[in-house]
Amino acid sequence: MEIHIVADAEAGAQVVADTFARTLQEAGPSGAVLGLATGSSPVPTYTELIRRHREEGLSFADSRAFLLDEYVGLPAGHDQSYHRFIRENFTEQIDIDDAAVVSPNGAAADPIAEAASYDRRIAEAGGVDLQILGIGSNGHIAFNEPGSSLNSRTRVVGLTRSTITDNSRYFDSPVDVPVRALSQGLGTILEARRIVLTATGASKAAAVAQLIEGAISSRWPATVLQLHPDVVVVVDEAAAAELQLADDYRYARRLEIENPLDVTQV
Ligand code: GLP
Repeated sequence: MEIHIVADAEAGAQVVADTFARTLQEAGPSGAVLGLATGSSPVPTYTELIRRHREEGLSFADSRAFLLDEYVGLPAGHDQSYHRFIRENFTEQIDIDDAAVVSPNGAAADPIAEAASYDRRIAEAGGVDLQILGIGSNGHIAFNEPGSSLNSRTRVVGLTRSTITDNSRYFDSPVDVPVRALSQGLGTILEARRIVLTATGASKAAAVAQLIEGAISSRWPATVLQLHPDVVVVVDEAAAAELQLADDYRYARRLEIENPLDVTQV
């Protein structure tokens, strides 16, 4: 894992946006397949990418995007649907084709069939080049709650009490939060070629410590990312507070910046 401990969310957004820019550049004219996440954590990154699009000409014109998850029972236009969230906070403000922004249909008559077809649609698009992730305070990624199979596929999942409580801030009351979601599985997420996870604030400190330093276990689903060969983790000081080896990660980053690898001399 490439671990960045940054001063604040804005500094983190620069690092994550750089990862997007690199992925877009590598994809070239055929376009990148982006894996997008909702929640508050990616929003500073989306804001920075919108700025780079407007001011620096960063283009998403040939890209496609797949969302991680969606609440079951909320129609696409519902003001708390992830379908709507990603459009308002990101994709309507860049030059990606709206039809190329795909999410699981939370209002599907048969959510189980919808889940099965979602992985197929990602595969048909050639797989995800870059997946951005947040992390729940209980260590979930997408809606893979503790107890999720480490090789799970996109499926219908039940939400835990702690996630319903965490996410109730977006709803009028906790009873309005849907109890189920369609979520990419941990196995689905691991198929993305590059993953960048971002977290800020003390409420994420325990989950971040497990993600980086804990044993791989479905108790903390994000720990499965330790198996992925290309993961960038970007956290602020508060989210890094429970890392035992934070100084080592800072030192490693500093060494890399001071001694960039010159492949012509290796
Ligand atoms: C939700 C989403 C996750 C997200 C998590 C954390 O449960 N399904 O994808 O990472 O919340 O959200 P936030 O970034 O707002 O803390």
